[in-house]
Amino acid sequence: MSQPQHADPIIGQTFGNVVAQRILGRGGMGAVYLGHHPGLDMMVAIKLLPDLFVGKREMVERFLREARVSGRLLHPNIVRTLDVGRDHGVYYLVMEYVEGVDAQRLLDREQRFTPMRAVNIAGFVARALGEAHEQQVIHRDIKPANILIARDGKVKVTDFGLARSLTNTATALTLSNQVVGTPNYMAPEQIKSMDVDVRVDIYALGVTLWQFLTGQLPFEGATPMAVLLNVVGENLSMPREVFDPLPKELREAVVAMTAKDPRRRLPNIPAVLAVLKKARDALRSAGLDSTAPITGAPVRASSPQIQSISDSAALRSTHAQPLPRNDPKSFTKALGSDAQQRPPQRGAPPGPRRK
Ligand SMILES: Nc1ncnc2c1ncn2[C@@H]1O[C@H](COP(=O)(O)OP(=O)(O)O)[C@@H](O)[C@H]1O
Ligand SMILES: [Mg+2]
Repeated sequence: MSQPQHADPIIGQTFGNVVAQRILGRGGMGAVYLGHHPGLDMMVAIKLLPDLFVGKREMVERFLREARVSGRLLHPNIVRTLDVGRDHGVYYLVMEYVEGVDAQRLLDREQRFTPMRAVNIAGFVARALGEAHEQQVIHRDIKPANILIARDGKVKVTDFGLARSLTNTATALTLSNQVVGTPNYMAPEQIKSMDVDVRVDIYALGVTLWQFLTGQLPFEGATPMAVLLNVVGENLSMPREVFDPLPKELREAVVAMTAKDPRRRLPNIPAVLAVLKKARDALRSAGLDSTAPITGAPVRASSPQIQSISDSAALRSTHAQPLPRNDPKSFTKALGSDAQQRPPQRGAPPGPRRK
């Protein structure tokens, strides 16, 4: 007990006005810490760009872009960006702290969600995306790890690190012809690197909903490249034991959101909200309206870490170097971060409130 748990040099350091207190999570881009802003006497989350990226102009630019893009999004279902800057050489981004857990961790803990809870969470994410799309921003990395569920049930989308602004031509130029995203959630057209639009977010949200319902990760593959090939070539399976008992409205919603051909996919967020509403009404009529955590579900020993591909170079190097066998989907080696070290979180938050 008296032994310090770790020797993380970040803890206790001040970035701008924020004192880092403990790690909250890591992704492909950086580490996110809980911080305290003494001036405002407020807890905040602070994302730091790892040292190894500081010399990489593109990564720094991407980090600053995340701040700019997310900074203009004001919505109850989007994590609020508060500040960005550089202090003693470290780039930092200060945001609203969401006390709770991300949906990937929640899935690891509970295995899968009841259909009503899955649809409710997807509905809040859709609202967040509605605002982003209205502001001409495509998120491009929607997945459970980027969806935060607060203890009071509020749902907030985070991580605009791969977001693309359709109005900023500089952004569009930098990011064209690059494969970015997380393989299992990437729309086929995103992988083929064609011109992408809001429908890639709709696809990723559909895959996320599928994952909430099944507790499985779609499009498995031994390597990230194999996953990408599966995404392009295979249809999303609909396990009968999960989907047969569900109202057809919910099955149809998943199918319409995850169509391979973007022309056959739901075209925009109002259309997504409409099918989700139908699914919710059908669940209610069928008496499937529980949003409580599924109890008695076997807890998986560990879940694969799924990371974003944040640039094409990372993808190439990942492809070239086989990944550790026990962690087939991790891009962390290629990206040089230690995302495996997700700290366990204690205490399950209550499920989202019913709407
Ligand atoms: N505002 C926040 N409040 C609480 N936890 C957060 C917040 N932002 C991120 N996290 C946690 O940190 C993890 C990584 O953050 P994210 O912004 O997704 O970084 P990356 O771009 O590296 O993927 C998230 O999956 C989540 O668990
Ligand atoms: Mg992330």
